Amino acid sequence: MQTATALPISARLRERFSRAQRVCVLTGAGISAESGVPTFRGGGKTAVWKGMPFDVISSARMVQRDVVAVWEWFDYRRDLLKSLRPNAAHREIARWQDRFEDFTLVTQNIDGLHQRAGSRNVIELHGNIWRARCVTCDTRHEISQQDKRAAACFECGDPLRPDVVLFGEMLPPGAFERAAMKASECELCFVVGTSALVYPAANLPEIAKAHGAYVVEVNPERTALSTICDEVVKGEAGEVLPLLG
Ligand code: APR
Repeated sequence: MQTATALPISARLRERFSRAQRVCVLTGAGISAESGVPTFRGGGKTAVWKGMPFDVISSARMVQRDVVAVWEWFDYRRDLLKSLRPNAAHREIARWQDRFEDFTLVTQNIDGLHQRAGSRNVIELHGNIWRARCVTCDTRHEISQQDKRAAACFECGDPLRPDVVLFGEMLPPGAFERAAMKASECELCFVVGTSALVYPAANLPEIAKAHGAYVVEVNPERTALSTICDEVVKGEAGEVLPLLG
């Protein structure tokens, strides 16, 4: 039976949190909203770039057709990020990695804010906006905050593209498999700031639930996943998560 409580954190969740050893967290764009990173959906609207819905500009087909336009979109998002900082939710989750015996952080976010908050071994399902990759030899290239990104691959000289997963593309090899294994082994699973509309990421809490984990959603809005959760905490991640620590 699902718990909805007046207190943001129920006694049951507190008790499970205090004795958990294997914990898995899945995050989405909502966890970075309080840092000022625009979400893609939520609030009844979706992101648009130069008149194009984000899932058009962020697509494999667009890389084929106009990689310059794709770079413009990601350069804009990266520029936005330069002045933004991790928030209390990112920092709280970074603390959990040393609190639990077996802790796994899986993110759909490409903003790198978890890592900047101190999270290690983050499973990035959708890549990272601070990396580019060669369209031919697949070499990864770090993009620093200061310098202009490289125009071509320093290994083979061929063009680069953002090292993010675009609509119509596969996830990085092994990333989902590792996340799914951890989801199937965890006893407590948090789903934070995702509309749970994009698969296979949204499948992870379902896997955790199917293997007996206690699944908790943290989101100011109900999502496609709310009905399967054991607990739905309606609130902003930056306010709710520190209450647990
Ligand atoms: N705290 C917690 N949740 C929040 C907050 C907040 N402060 N603010 C907004 N949210 C919630 C919204 O209610 C919404 O449910 O975060 C969710 C954001 O949903 P989306 O914008 O759809 O982001 P996400 O679920 O991460 O999208 C999945 O789709 O666009 C692609 O590749 C992109 O990784 C992304 C994927």
